[in-house]
Amino acid sequence: LDNGLGLTPVMGWNSWNKFACGINETLIHSIADALVSTGLRDLGYHYLNLDDCWQLTRDMGSGKIKEDPNKFPSGMKALGDYIHSKGLKYGLYSDAGLMTCQRRPGSLGLETIDAQSYADFGCDYLKYDNCYAFGLKPQKRYEAMRDALNATGRPIFFSMCEWGALDPATWATPIGNSWRTTGDINPTWGSILEILDRNDPLWPYAGPGAWNDPDMLEVGNGNLTVEQQRSHFTLWAIMKAPLILGNDIRTISQESLDIITNKKIIAINQDKLGAQAHSVWTSDEKDTQVWAGPLDEGEFVIVLFNRGDINNVEIAVHWKDIPDFYTDTTTMVLEDLWCDWNTTATGSFTAKVQAHDVVAFRASPTKKSNNLRKNVNLQS
Ligand code: GLA
Repeated sequence: LDNGLGLTPVMGWNSWNKFACGINETLIHSIADALVSTGLRDLGYHYLNLDDCWQLTRDMGSGKIKEDPNKFPSGMKALGDYIHSKGLKYGLYSDAGLMTCQRRPGSLGLETIDAQSYADFGCDYLKYDNCYAFGLKPQKRYEAMRDALNATGRPIFFSMCEWGALDPATWATPIGNSWRTTGDINPTWGSILEILDRNDPLWPYAGPGAWNDPDMLEVGNGNLTVEQQRSHFTLWAIMKAPLILGNDIRTISQESLDIITNKKIIAINQDKLGAQAHSVWTSDEKDTQVWAGPLDEGEFVIVLFNRGDINNVEIAVHWKDIPDFYTDTTTMVLEDLWCDWNTTATGSFTAKVQAHDVVAFRASPTKKSNNLRKNVNLQS
C-alpha cells in the first residue's frame, strides 16, 4: 500500500501470542516500560500493538466502538498517550466482519466511524482480522477500511489479517502494508516449519510498503530450544517478515533476549532494498536448505539451515545456485551474523550446522564492482 508507511518491515510487540484476551491497561503500561528498559525500542521495536479483546460494545447513540471499561478504565486515548510518551507507536485491532474472532464488535459497514475513532485515539497501526464475514469478498472489505483510514488523514499502518482468503499475496499489495500468508502460528517447531514453507514461494510479492506476513514471532514462548528460536528469528528476518514479538518481554530469558536483539540480523530485515530471501537449494531428504536473497548495494544474505534432527550436518552453498549472485570465480567476504567472525570464499562455502539451527552470513564481494554481478531482477 502506497501510504508512505512500512518502507522496511515493521518491528514491535503484539499481545496475542502470549496474553490472548488477558490484556489490560496495567499490562500494556508495563510492556511499554519494558520495551524501553530492555533497549528493544532503541533497536527499532517501535510498535506496541493490542490484539483482540480491548473492545467490548458500541455506543448505541453514536455507533462508536467502546473499550472494555474494566480492562481499560482510562480509555484508549489515554493509553495511546502513555505509549507515545515512551517514544513508541500505538497499534489496535479490529475485524472486517460483524465480530472479531473473539466475538467483540467488528467494523464491517462501520469502517468510517471506527477509522475515525482509531485516529482520535492516536492509533498508528491497525491489525484487521477476517472472522464473521460470511463469505463476503475480502478485497472489498479490506479496501473499505484502507479508504476509511486514509480519509482520517492520520498515517496508520494497515496490517491485513485476511487468513483464509485465497492467494492474498496476488491482490493485497495495493490494499495493505502487510498481509497474513498463513493461519495462526504456535510455539512449536512443526508450526514454524509449516509457515516457513508456505511463505517461502511468495517472495516475488514482497517489497517496500507491502510485505508478506507469516505471523508474529514465538521467540521466548513455549518450549522452543535456543537453536529453534535462532532459526525462527533469522528466517523471519530474511523473509522480510514484520518482526512483531509475541512474548512477555518483562520476564524474557537472556538467551531469548540475545536472539531478538541481534543487530546484524535486524539490519538484514531492515535492509532498504526490501527483497524477501527464499530457499535456493533443498536436499533430496528435505532436511537441509540454503536460503539467500539480495541486499542493498550488491550484498546478499545467505543462510544454511538444518531442518533435521541430526547434529553437525555439513551444508554447502554454491554460488551458482543463488539467482542473480556473483560468478563462481568471485571471492566473497562472508560475515557471520551470529558469531563475531568472518572469512572469504570463492565459488562455494561449507559449514557444519547443528540440528534445527542456522549458520547465517552477509556476503559482500571483496571488490565492490557491480559488473561482477548478474542483473538483479526482483519483482519478475
Ligand atoms: C485470529 C488471528 C490471530 C489473533 C486472533 C485474535 O486468529 O489470526 O493473530 O489476532 O484472531 O482473536
